[in-house]
Amino acid sequence: PAMTQDELKALVGRAALAYVEPGQIVGVGTGSTVNCFIDALAQAQAQAQTRIAGAVSSSEASTQRLRAHGIAVFDANEVGELAVYIDGADEIDPRGYMIKGGGAALTREKIVAAQARRFVCIADQSKWVQTLGRFPLPVEVIPMATQRLIRQFAALGGEARVRLRDGVPLVTDNGQHILDVHGLRIADPVAFESMVNDWPGVVTVGVFAHQRAHVCLLGTPEGVRTIAF
Ligand code: A5P
Repeated sequence: PAMTQDELKALVGRAALAYVEPGQIVGVGTGSTVNCFIDALAQAQAQAQTRIAGAVSSSEASTQRLRAHGIAVFDANEVGELAVYIDGADEIDPRGYMIKGGGAALTREKIVAAQARRFVCIADQSKWVQTLGRFPLPVEVIPMATQRLIRQFAALGGEARVRLRDGVPLVTDNGQHILDVHGLRIADPVAFESMVNDWPGVVTVGVFAHQRAHVCLLGTPEGVRTIAF
């Protein structure tokens, strides 16, 4: 029988354990695929296979899940460079460029990714694309700038909408809002990321080109495909 998307997420979550070494402080991302990694990590800790020293987390949600498993969570400022950051993606392309932020955690994800030498992306095959942009691009913004930024994206052919939760704007872990930009085709992710970063009021754009993946563990029905960039 064909593997479900959840089974593919569990598969790559376990596979990511191979990129973690005992005694390390590991950068941990956010989302349902990362939750599988956290659970696999907890299991490995319990069986004393891989005892890490702890984690730096990219969201309140991942912090809670790590702590519930008894894994120590450190502040990013308490630790130096991390060997590895493990996170999912909403889209990943053949150069390791990604769209992230479907879970609204993109700012802290980019911060922790920037602190790590290596980004290991774990994703089921539905995330693999040739060109970024089918997934609506998340952008964390200062609410005061929202309407002007919507117009700036419109000038690029994108339709930006404020992300809602229960009918009101979603508030991120950093107290800001998220725009989801539909209809973009991001041919040059490096240039696009730099351009949007320059717009006043943008906190973080969900294109991860400067903080691209170095390895992708892609879950397919034939098993885990390891793609190095
Ligand atoms: C969180 O802000 C995102 O960047 C996630 O990494 C992304 O949404 C992947 O989530 P899933 O693993 O749940 O698909």
